[in-house]
Amino acid sequence: MNSHPEERPDAENDRHTHSAPLRRVTTRRLIEMKKKGTKIVCLTAYDALIGRVLDEAGVDVILVGDSLGNVVQGHETTIPVTLEDIIYHTRAVNRGVKRAMVIADMPFMSYQVSPEEAFRNAGRLLKEAGASAVKVEGGERVADAVSRMTEAGIPVMAHLGLTPQSIHQFGSYRVRGTDDAEADRIVRDAKILEEAGAFAIVLEKIPADLAAKVTSSVNIPTIGIGAGAECDGQILVYTDMLGLTVDFNPRFVRQYENLYERIHTAVTRYGDDIRQRNFPNTDESY
Ligand code: KIV
Repeated sequence: MNSHPEERPDAENDRHTHSAPLRRVTTRRLIEMKKKGTKIVCLTAYDALIGRVLDEAGVDVILVGDSLGNVVQGHETTIPVTLEDIIYHTRAVNRGVKRAMVIADMPFMSYQVSPEEAFRNAGRLLKEAGASAVKVEGGERVADAVSRMTEAGIPVMAHLGLTPQSIHQFGSYRVRGTDDAEADRIVRDAKILEEAGAFAIVLEKIPADLAAKVTSSVNIPTIGIGAGAECDGQILVYTDMLGLTVDFNPRFVRQYENLYERIHTAVTRYGDDIRQRNFPNTDESY
């Protein structure tokens, strides 16, 4: 399990490392970043290999999102993801990460039943999976669960706007908060969640001016995904920004690579080499 050198009084006396220990990103650091206007860089990850690359590239927050239901498991929605799935993937990510804060997404039905059940399940994500914090979707209706967890020392990230676990209630993945009533509710929910103890809020697929309003209405960082540039940080699903996901091109995704094409080309060449008896050659044999 990862520890938090920044918060251990004896961190400098760590005899297991010769160089200075990496300062683990903490909730306190994220709130300081908002105050200083330093943008917070976040991405999802689902395994140790990707967790390590993202961490070494300087990502501040790695979310083991329930988007793994779509990305890793091939489901249409995030609804089928279980707590055991999130525990498994969070453990894996955690093994690859030294500096970033690792946040485990609480899957559908793991926090909605009662604050007590939310607390017990979040506890498992910290204790068994090594997460530093958890994330839940929803506004006022999850505030009691957020209070229960934060009062017991479990940091909670909230998530407003488009909340994919409610897809069957919304009926579509369209932009949220476009009418005044819904926009007002999002601002109110953000304040309620801050009051309940949340340390950050993901704002998904809402108009940029609404996200800016939420960002200036709360003292905790907002992390946008399809919510404009005024949020305190940004998050994307890593497979989307690397072009590994196909048939999903919302305008909020900037594609920095086309890994689908690159992997397809490399694997095709590998197949051709085997079929043409070009692989392995004598240098690659014993
Ligand atoms: O599950 C997820 O990956 C998320 C992010 C997109 C915010 O909730």
